[in-house]
Amino acid sequence: MPEDALIYNAGMNPKAHEPASLPVPEPIALAQSEALAATLRAEIAAAGGWLPFDRYMERALYAPGLGYYSGGSRKFGLLADDGSDFVTAPEMSPLFAATLARAVGEALAASGTRALMEFGAGTGRLAAGVMLALEALGVPFDAYSIVDLSGELRERQRETIAQRAPHLLERVQWLDALPERFEGVVIGNEVLDAMPVRLFARKDAVWHERGVAVGDAGGFVFSDRPAMSGRDADWAQSVPGSVLAAIDGSDDYVAETHEAALAFTRTVCAMLTRGAAFFIDYGFPESEYYHPQRVQGTLMCHYRHRAHDDPFLYPGLQDITAHVEFSGIAQAGVETGADLLGYTSQARFLMNAGITEVLGEIDPRDVVRFMPAANAVQKLVSEAEMGELFKVIAFSRGIDSTIAAFARGDRSHTL
Ligand SMILES: C[S@@+](CC[C@H](N)C(=O)[O-])C[C@H]1O[C@@H](n2cnc3c(N)ncnc32)[C@H](O)[C@@H]1O
Repeated sequence: MPEDALIYNAGMNPKAHEPASLPVPEPIALAQSEALAATLRAEIAAAGGWLPFDRYMERALYAPGLGYYSGGSRKFGLLADDGSDFVTAPEMSPLFAATLARAVGEALAASGTRALMEFGAGTGRLAAGVMLALEALGVPFDAYSIVDLSGELRERQRETIAQRAPHLLERVQWLDALPERFEGVVIGNEVLDAMPVRLFARKDAVWHERGVAVGDAGGFVFSDRPAMSGRDADWAQSVPGSVLAAIDGSDDYVAETHEAALAFTRTVCAMLTRGAAFFIDYGFPESEYYHPQRVQGTLMCHYRHRAHDDPFLYPGLQDITAHVEFSGIAQAGVETGADLLGYTSQARFLMNAGITEVLGEIDPRDVVRFMPAANAVQKLVSEAEMGELFKVIAFSRGIDSTIAAFARGDRSHTL
């Protein structure tokens, strides 16, 4: 496999691959992208020529039938040749699900609950892997509910689970709406980063909201307008206003704010009446996220395993994502009355939860199985790969003590 083929959905240098070097989509895909672009141009015109970036991102990712996650592109996979765009931990190795299941099982037991709910279940590999591992660990569970904005992915999830864990398929259900109350364990891998963000640019010491307009050639362009004239009536008190005003310095600066992810966290934590919710994603606490030197923000796009920074390239055919700001997420969850169960790096979480024991279940003499598994563990926990950039945050209700996965190296105090 060529060294640069394995691109995680995060963390690449945006300048590493200029859009000009990206593969050109098939004509049918380009036509789908143009159909989405036409609806966006119409929406921009109807809105007076300017659309906030979060609305553009929402449509580019989730417009029914045309958005990146709701359209038919392959998305997750190991290689550009298979038509995929990036790889996530559950796609990379079954050891991720098997290790996460140990923490999930502990949370189920500690809260005395027997239900699971996964948000944004991708191909369904994590669901299949977690259920199989819980079964092997002897942890009882009655139901596994999946919530995904993408109808196309539902079918793929059903197929994966039918193939990998056919006897457990009857416990799986797909939800169209969230229940008011949920007792059990929630999981979401790389879901928060897929939620629309607002963009802001500080220019000559004045904050502007960065939106989208149609340029002379008909393509989309960034367009900035003074932020205080926008939709946040009380700018100083609002999430973007108060967060951005706290960034030191007056240099030109671009940053995202994450209202959709905060609202999502509040909803999930309010729904959780007993149990725990685990979210795994790439990102940082506020002090790092809005560091005066991080002047370009974290908005990133993925197409055919290349990372770049142009969200207007092939709308609907590429992923658009931003890193997660975990201090805000923690606050949003705790505001609902949930406890912060823990926050740490993916490496620390997986090591605490026993990933080396899970690896140890494979006979090292079975080189064909052992070598790829050991390689994947290295990628999941290495600081230079996913181990440090990716974090795990968890909320709980009705769990009195911590769980093993957060017992050492908890970083909640950094939030
Ligand atoms: C980057 S993918 C990650 C998929 C999978 N968890 C994995 O790790 O391979 C993001 C997923 O989150 C889903 N998603 C985004 N916002 C969501 C929401 N509010 N509720 C449920 N799913 C959501 C998308 O449809 C997509 O399936």
